[in-house]
Amino acid sequence: DAVSLGLFDHYMQKETFEQPEVVANTLEMVSGAQSISPQLFGASALELFPKITNILILACGTSYHAGMVARYWLEDVAGIPVNVEIASEYRYRKSVAQSNTLIITISQSGETADTIAALQHAKELHNGLSAVTLSICNAPESALTRQSQLKFLTRAGPEIGVASTKAFTTQLSSLFVLTLVLAKVNGHLSVAQEADYLKQLRHLPAAMQQVLLLEDQIKPWAKAFADKDHALFLGRGIHWPVAMEGALKLKEITYIHAESYAAGELKHGPLALVDEKMPVIAIAPNDGLIEKLKSNLQEVRARSGELYIFADRDTQIETGEGVHVINLPDHAGLLSPILHTLPLQLLSYHTALERGTDVDKPRNLAKSVTVE
Ligand code: G6P
Repeated sequence: DAVSLGLFDHYMQKETFEQPEVVANTLEMVSGAQSISPQLFGASALELFPKITNILILACGTSYHAGMVARYWLEDVAGIPVNVEIASEYRYRKSVAQSNTLIITISQSGETADTIAALQHAKELHNGLSAVTLSICNAPESALTRQSQLKFLTRAGPEIGVASTKAFTTQLSSLFVLTLVLAKVNGHLSVAQEADYLKQLRHLPAAMQQVLLLEDQIKPWAKAFADKDHALFLGRGIHWPVAMEGALKLKEITYIHAESYAAGELKHGPLALVDEKMPVIAIAPNDGLIEKLKSNLQEVRARSGELYIFADRDTQIETGEGVHVINLPDHAGLLSPILHTLPLQLLSYHTALERGTDVDKPRNLAKSVTVE
C-alpha cells in the first residue's frame, strides 16, 4: 500500500491514533473562525439552508451510525426533525416524501452502491418538493459528491483498515458543524452559545488525545474478552449509536458475536441472555440519563452479568465485584459520543490481536461495497 505504516503494526491502529490530527484537519476551517457560516457546505447553502424543514440521512455501516448520532444533535440543537435510514432498505421502501427536505448521504468512500442508489431514489421521490442534497464524504471526487448539490469533506485521509475508525469520528465532527450551522440559520443558537461550541471544537483534538492514553488500561480487558463468544454493548440516548458502533467494530475484526442495545430495552428481551459468561460493555457518560443507566446496569449485575464500564469520571461509578471501570475525563457535553467511541475501537483492536485475526482485512468484508 502507498500509505506507510510508520511505527504502527496495523493500519487500524495507525488510523485510530491519527484521529486527533484528522479531526483537527476536518475542523480547520471551522474552529479557527470566530463564527460559522452555511458556506462551509457550498456557496449555495446560504440560500438553500433557510428553506429546510426536515432532514433525511442515508448511509450504510459505520456511516449509518454517524447519522444516528447526528439525529440527536440536529433535533436537540437545531430543532429540525430527522429521519435516518439504512440505504439498502430505503432504496426499496415506498416512503412518504416531505417537502423542503435536506437529503444527507454520509460515506467514507462516496462509492457505496446502496447509498448511491438510495440518493437517486430519494431524488426521484422528492422531485418537485424543493429538496436539497448534501454529501458528507471522505473522497473529494466521488459518485456521491458529484451527485449532490452541497458537500462537506471529512479530511480523514486514506483509510485502509476495513473497519472504519477515523472516517467515523471525522464524520461526527462534520455533522456537529452542520448542526451548529443549521441551528444558527434557524435562530436556535445565540452568539454566546456559538462561541462556546467553537471553543469546545477547538479543544476536541486534545480531549481525544487524552482518551487514547487509556490504551494500557484497555489491554487487560481485551485479554478477558479474547475467549468470549458473545458480548452485549449498552448505551442510552446519543450514546446508543455509539454502542452500536462498538458492537460493529468487535464483530468485524474479532468475529465475536456482539449485540448492541439501548439500555432501557434490556428488560424487553436481552436480559434473558445475561449470565456470568456474558460480558456487558456499558457506555456511561455523565449526562441526563446516567441514573437510568445505573439502574439498567444493576439489572445486569443482579443476573451475574460481568460489567465493563467506560464511565466519565464525574459519574463516580466505582469498580467492584463483577464491575470493571475505566474512567474517561469529566463529561464532555454534546461532543461526548466522539470521545466515547475511541476506547471501543481500542478494545476491539486489542481483542483482535489476542485472537490473532486479520485486523486490517477481516474475512468476508470489503472496504468499499460498490456492488449491491
Ligand atoms: C463497508 C465498510 C464499512 C463502511 C461501509 C459503508 O461495509 O467495511 O467500514 O462503514 O462499507 O461505507 P462508506 O464508504 O459508504 O462509508
